Amino acid sequence: MSREHKFETDAIKTQMERSEFLEHSTPLHLTSSFIFEDAEDMRASFAEEKERNIYSRFTNPNTSEFVDKMCKLEGAESGYAFATGMAAVFSTFAALLNAGDHIVSARSIFGSTHTLFTKFLPKWNIETSYFKVDEVDNIESLIQPNTKILYVESPTNPAVDILDLEVLGQIAKKHSLIFIIDNCFATPYLQNPIKFGADLVIHSATKLIDGQGRVLGGVTVGRADLIREIYLFSRNTGPALSPFNAWILSKSLETLGVRVDRHCENALKVAEFLETHNKVALVKYPFLKSHPQYELAKKQMKQGGNVVAFEVKGGIEAGRQFLNQLKMLSLSANLGDTRSIATHPASTTHSKLSEADRLEVGISDGLVRISVGLEHVDDIIADLKQALEYV
Ligand SMILES: Cc1ncc(COP(=O)(O)O)c(C=O)c1O
Repeated sequence: MSREHKFETDAIKTQMERSEFLEHSTPLHLTSSFIFEDAEDMRASFAEEKERNIYSRFTNPNTSEFVDKMCKLEGAESGYAFATGMAAVFSTFAALLNAGDHIVSARSIFGSTHTLFTKFLPKWNIETSYFKVDEVDNIESLIQPNTKILYVESPTNPAVDILDLEVLGQIAKKHSLIFIIDNCFATPYLQNPIKFGADLVIHSATKLIDGQGRVLGGVTVGRADLIREIYLFSRNTGPALSPFNAWILSKSLETLGVRVDRHCENALKVAEFLETHNKVALVKYPFLKSHPQYELAKKQMKQGGNVVAFEVKGGIEAGRQFLNQLKMLSLSANLGDTRSIATHPASTTHSKLSEADRLEVGISDGLVRISVGLEHVDDIIADLKQALEYV
């Protein structure tokens, strides 16, 4: 679906057809199923001779509005919405892969996606070969005759590394691989991977798309032929997004641009503050000049996102001490909320990885991830500053 207007306008104006009540804002269709005029209408609907809501596991006006909007914002042909980001990741792989297929993936990926690749997909003889984010040159040597998917996140979670999407797109095309990217950290407002050759884009809508820490959701958008397979798998296996959460997420997209602008402004200020602090060993933020892929980030992203990763001098104990002293920031597993959140990936989201694997993806014992929220940036920095005094 191509963009009709500028991003902010499409995010607001993409809306389901008005009902007879002429409501201004989208109504909520909390219904499990839909009714038919007669037996012929029902037969034709099931035969897909008509585009028609049948049952909310398949489609629902609220989920369709959310998906249509995501397609416009990502420049995608089609999509399907899921109950969580992980349902989107799993269903996408389960729909497209056969037993014996092979995946090539960046090693720096979300912890549960790594668990899917290493623990569950091998049950169906689907193996994954990993490359390090700075070893894109190595990818072609990992491709096998049975390789079907090239998978990455950019920026990565939690070390905010950046991968060259254009180069990856070219490799995928040359070897006829399906190129899939988890675009959760960037949102469609900051980065549109389809422009760089991605076939499918996945989001955990739980993060910045909801943006207020209320609901879980996920979505996959991209090539219509691939989405058709994902739709057929999902329609029959049941990972669908609830209409209520779809209504919330579609409303949230109306403010994505203004929210993400402020998130990024605050995050850059937080990163700049941390970089000058004498108790901080290292700061990673895509739009800091010191970031190893700063130029690349500038090329493919509009701004740097809301996640800042940094290492407190003094390793694991110093990191824990820092977290314990925070007064305003929450210790919580989510990110992309209005409330700023601090986490310790080594002991939480990425604890299933071995220490060697963690270090390889840039997660040292002392690494702290800050999801910078929408409180006043002076208050966020003041809290970080007072907590660092105890390190
Ligand atoms: C990059 C990334 N992908 C996927 C997920 C999974 O999303 P959900 O928690 O909505 O299942 C997360 C969650 O933290 C994430 O950070």
